Amino acid sequence: MCDKCKNTFYITTPIYYPSDKLHIGHTYCTVAADTMARYKRMRGYDVMFLTGTDEHGQKIENKAKEAGVSPKEFVDNIVTGQGGVLDLWKLMNISNDRFIRTTDDYHVAAVQKIFKKMYENGDIYKGSYKGKYCTPCESFWTESQLKDGKCPDCGREVTDAEEEAYFFRLSKYAKPVRELLTTTDFLEPKSRVNEMVNNFIDPGLEDLCVSRTSFTWGVPVDFDPGHVVYVWVDALFNYTTALGFLNDAHDDYEKFWPADVHFVGKEIVRFHSIIWPAMLMSMGMPLPKKVYGHGWLLLDGGKMSKSKGNVVDPYLLAERYGVDALRFFLMRTFPFGSDGNFSNELLISCINTDLANDLGNLVSRTVAMVHKYFGGTLPEAQEADEALDQPLLELASGLRDKYEAQMEAYQFQNALAEVFKVISRANKYIDENAPWVLAKDESKKPRLARVLYNLLETVRICGALLEPVMPSTTEKIMARLGNPAHGWDTLSTFGVLPAAVTVTTGDALFPRIDMAKELEALEAIHQEALKAAQAPKEDPLPEPLPPVDFDTFSKVEMTVVKVISCEKVKKSEKLLKFQLDDGTGTPRQILSGIAKYYEPEALLGKTLVAVTNLPPRKMMGQESRGMLLSAERGETLHLVMLDDAVPAGARLV
Ligand code: ME8
Repeated sequence: MCDKCKNTFYITTPIYYPSDKLHIGHTYCTVAADTMARYKRMRGYDVMFLTGTDEHGQKIENKAKEAGVSPKEFVDNIVTGQGGVLDLWKLMNISNDRFIRTTDDYHVAAVQKIFKKMYENGDIYKGSYKGKYCTPCESFWTESQLKDGKCPDCGREVTDAEEEAYFFRLSKYAKPVRELLTTTDFLEPKSRVNEMVNNFIDPGLEDLCVSRTSFTWGVPVDFDPGHVVYVWVDALFNYTTALGFLNDAHDDYEKFWPADVHFVGKEIVRFHSIIWPAMLMSMGMPLPKKVYGHGWLLLDGGKMSKSKGNVVDPYLLAERYGVDALRFFLMRTFPFGSDGNFSNELLISCINTDLANDLGNLVSRTVAMVHKYFGGTLPEAQEADEALDQPLLELASGLRDKYEAQMEAYQFQNALAEVFKVISRANKYIDENAPWVLAKDESKKPRLARVLYNLLETVRICGALLEPVMPSTTEKIMARLGNPAHGWDTLSTFGVLPAAVTVTTGDALFPRIDMAKELEALEAIHQEALKAAQAPKEDPLPEPLPPVDFDTFSKVEMTVVKVISCEKVKKSEKLLKFQLDDGTGTPRQILSGIAKYYEPEALLGKTLVAVTNLPPRKMMGQESRGMLLSAERGETLHLVMLDDAVPAGARLV
C-alpha cells in the first residue's frame, strides 16, 4: 500500500516549557498521547506522534539569568541533560515518532516566514501595546480579563507593559472561530466550548500582541530587528513545522496535516481553540480535526507546581512501582477530561487491586494450573460447556468493540474499566468452575482443559488490549502464552490460541505493596526532599575568565598588610576605611566595599592581602591606595586572611 492510501493518525502533546524538571502532571498528558498513538498503531494506522519543548520567551530568559548561564545552555540542560525531558520520555516508554525543540534552526526559520506571511496578508500590523503582562504565563491581558487584578490563568501578579509591537487581527476571526467551536466537534470535552465562547469570544476578541521588544530570547522578526515573535505564535506552529511546513528538515506535512488531535491541558485550551485556528485561517491552512482539553492532576486540591513545592517526581514513582504500573494508574484512575486528585494511597491501592490482585492473579493462577495439571501444555481434547462458558466467552469476544468505542472518545479510564470487567469475570469463572475439583477426577480432564483454555484465551484478549497502556506487561503476558497472535483483528474472536497451547511460568507481574509500610517510606522520602529544598543552595560557580600570560600576572603587586584601624565611611552603606601596615612604616589607606560583611572592630590586627600597585582612586571624597583581596561566591564574601605570623610587607609570589 502506498503511504497516502494508508489511514494516517497525527497526534500531538503540548510542547513543554523546559523551565523546570517535568512532573507527574506533564507525564499524564504524554502518557495519554502515547496510549492513543499505540492504540492507533495497533489498529494499523500510520501514526505520527509528536512531542517536544517550547524553549523561547521571557520566563526562560529570566531563569537562565538567575542560573548564570545562557538561555540555550539552560534549556539544553533541562531537555537533553541527565534526568531531563528526553530521559523522562525514554523512561516512561513514550513512543513519539518525532521530538521538536523550538530552538531548532528549521523551526526558527519557518516561524519567521510564517510571521512575514501574516504580515504581508495584512493580518499582522504594527501598533503600540499597553496592558498587563503575566511573566510566568507569557500572556498579555486586558484590564477586563484580569481576575481580581491578577492573571486569570495562574492568579499571579501582572505588570504594566507598553511598547511598540505587532498585532494579529484576532478580532477579524471571531465569527468563524465561534462557528467552528459551536457547530463542530473541534473542541472537546463539550464543556470547554461554553467556557471559550462565554468567557473569551462573546465579550469581544481583541487583536493579539504578537511581538516583544523587552527581551531577546525568541525568534527574531527578520524584517524588524529588535522585535521577537510572541512565544505562543512560535510554539503553536511547531505542530506544522515539525512535519516540514516551510522547511526542508522534514517532508510529511502533506501526509499528516491536519492533525487528528491535539491533546492539551485545560489552561491552554484558549490558545489552541481560538488563537490557533484563527492563525491557521489567516495562513489559509487546514484546521486540526480536534483539540482535546484534559484536566489537571491536583495535589492537595491545587495544581502541581514547583513554586508551590508540591510536585510529584515521576522518576521516583517509576523506580518504586515500575513504569507500566505508573502509566496504568494515570490512565485508569482519572477521567481524561476532568481534574483528578493524585495521592499515594490511590496509586498504591490501584496497583494492589487491579494489577496485583485482578490481573496478576488471573495470569499467574491460570498459567500455574496449566503447569500443575497438564505439565505446561494443554491437551487437544477439550470439552465445552455452553451454559458455564457462554457468559465469559461473550464478554471476552465483545470486549474489543466496547474498548474501541471508549478509546475513540478518549475515555481511557472507561476503556480500561471494560478490560477489568472481563478480568474480574474470568477470576469469578475460576471460582465457578473450581479447576482444583475437576482435577481430582480423571474423567473431568477434558473439561478442565477447556476451562483453562478459556482462561488463557481471555488473558490473551485482555493482555493485548492493555498494550497501549502497559506495553512491557503485554510483552511479558504474551511470552507466557507462547507469543500467540494478538493483533487487532484477532481480538474479537474467541479461540485464536491453538488448543494444545504451551505456557511458561514467571515472577509475579505486579507484587503486592504493603500500603502502611510504603506510605511511611514515601513520607520519609518527602521529608528528606523538603529538608534538602530548604537547605541553603550553593551559588553557581562564576564564569571562568580568559587565560592571561605569566608576564601580565606577575605585574600585579600583592602585599601582606595588617589592619591598624578600620571604621565605617560616613554616609556610605558599603565602604569600610582601613589604615594598614604594609611594612613601609607609613600607614596605607584603603577603602573597601565590604561593610555588609564585616563589623570594623572584628578586623583589627588581622593579616590581609592588598593589591598595592593600582593607581590611587577617590571614593566618597577619600583616597584609596589599593584593593583588599577577598573571595566571593554568589552572595557570600570573605577577606583573604593569612596566618598572623606572616610579616607585613611580605610579597605574594
Ligand atoms: O503550556 N496536570 O507548557 P507547560 C495535568 N509550552 N497536566 C498538567 C499539569 C498537571 N498537574 N501540569 C502541567 C505549556 N500540565 C506550553 C505549551 S503548546 C504549543 C505550548 C500540562 O510545560 C499543562 O496543562 O507549562 C500543559 O498542557 C502541559 O502540561 C505543558 O505545560
